[in-house]
Amino acid sequence: MPADHSLESRVRAHLAGLRSDDLLRTMRSPIGVDLSSNDYLKLAVHPKVVAAFAAGLAGGGAGSTGSRLLRGERSVFTAVERRFAEFKGTERSLFFSSGYLANLAVLTTLPDPGDVIFSDSLNHASLIDGVRLARATRVVFPHNDVAALARLIADTPCTGHRFVVVESLFSMDGDEAPLVEYARLCRESGALLLVDEAHAVGIYGANGTGLIEAHGVSADVLLSTNPAGKALGVGGAFVAGPAWAIEYLVQRARPFVFSTAAPPAMAHALLASLDVITDEPASRQRLQANARRLRSRLRAAGLGVADSASQIIPVHIGANDAAMALASTLQLEGFDVRAIRPPTVPVGTARLRVSVNVGINLSMVDEFAALLVAAMKEAGLCSAASS
Ligand SMILES: Cc1ncc(COP(=O)(O)O)c(C=O)c1O
Repeated sequence: MPADHSLESRVRAHLAGLRSDDLLRTMRSPIGVDLSSNDYLKLAVHPKVVAAFAAGLAGGGAGSTGSRLLRGERSVFTAVERRFAEFKGTERSLFFSSGYLANLAVLTTLPDPGDVIFSDSLNHASLIDGVRLARATRVVFPHNDVAALARLIADTPCTGHRFVVVESLFSMDGDEAPLVEYARLCRESGALLLVDEAHAVGIYGANGTGLIEAHGVSADVLLSTNPAGKALGVGGAFVAGPAWAIEYLVQRARPFVFSTAAPPAMAHALLASLDVITDEPASRQRLQANARRLRSRLRAAGLGVADSASQIIPVHIGANDAAMALASTLQLEGFDVRAIRPPTVPVGTARLRVSVNVGINLSMVDEFAALLVAAMKEAGLCSAASS
């Protein structure tokens, strides 16, 4: 029989490989207590945000009908961009229809040939893809390693500008970038700092604008990307920075120019989200209290959970099948926890990515911590754990 070289058989072989490596993904609707979403402040269901979205829909229709540079423009986009820039303390901001596109836009528009982009090894896929598509030289540096980055900056030939690209709070590890050290290094070396605040905007800093604010490095960051589908509860993303850079993105960023603008109702809802974040700072404190409680319960039980303030708490398992089985056990107990496997995280580092939010209280946190520890002991995953 002749060998089957069809595309279908090749794709079926790839799918079979994913299945045998326990890497096949399934789409599963939320059920049970949310311990896996990015809706940290529960703004996706906040009455003021939902009402603003509904009013925006009723007043402006479901879709924008075109690119912002054609018939897709609405005054509410400009209003929310002005409001976000004020919130973030920058000259201007620009709204994109997703964080993924915003990162592609920044990285494919600003760097030119001759420039060098230095990118953290654990950066999000949208930053990795942006760097891959960029016309500059790419250098990946070890996660959060400022000394290694300094050496690479010194050793890598560059005839143009140097860009350093990091997340402020890493999405799968929940650890912070050393922003103060990066700011100093960038000042000394003349490199330009680009920061993705996906999991920090809305949560950190006195005004809730993110870790750039919390660490006092606003003046050292050229541009920040601020996805608005996480703590802000809606979707889309703001790139914030100086007017000249934002104007250049409007003119040249392909994900902005050649894509239908987001539904205008999203901008209405985001105006409400920003009001809620400003008016309800206690919500951020409740989030941090939940995060502290879960971390301290898991640490007390002997789990290797880092002692940080972040709302993202990875529980490292290692093997894909063990991480999946543990997630299923917890789901059956009513807690919606998801396993994260390669390629989202490096091979051999499958984990549960537990993320807390303000929709749960401390006694639910305690109940979950006890269940998780018991399930890990049962599965032989934490011999050190005591109940
Ligand atoms: C660090 C980081 N940047 C960017 C994105 C992309 O944002 P969006 O989901 O709005 O496309 C994500 C989302 O998962 C993220 O975690």
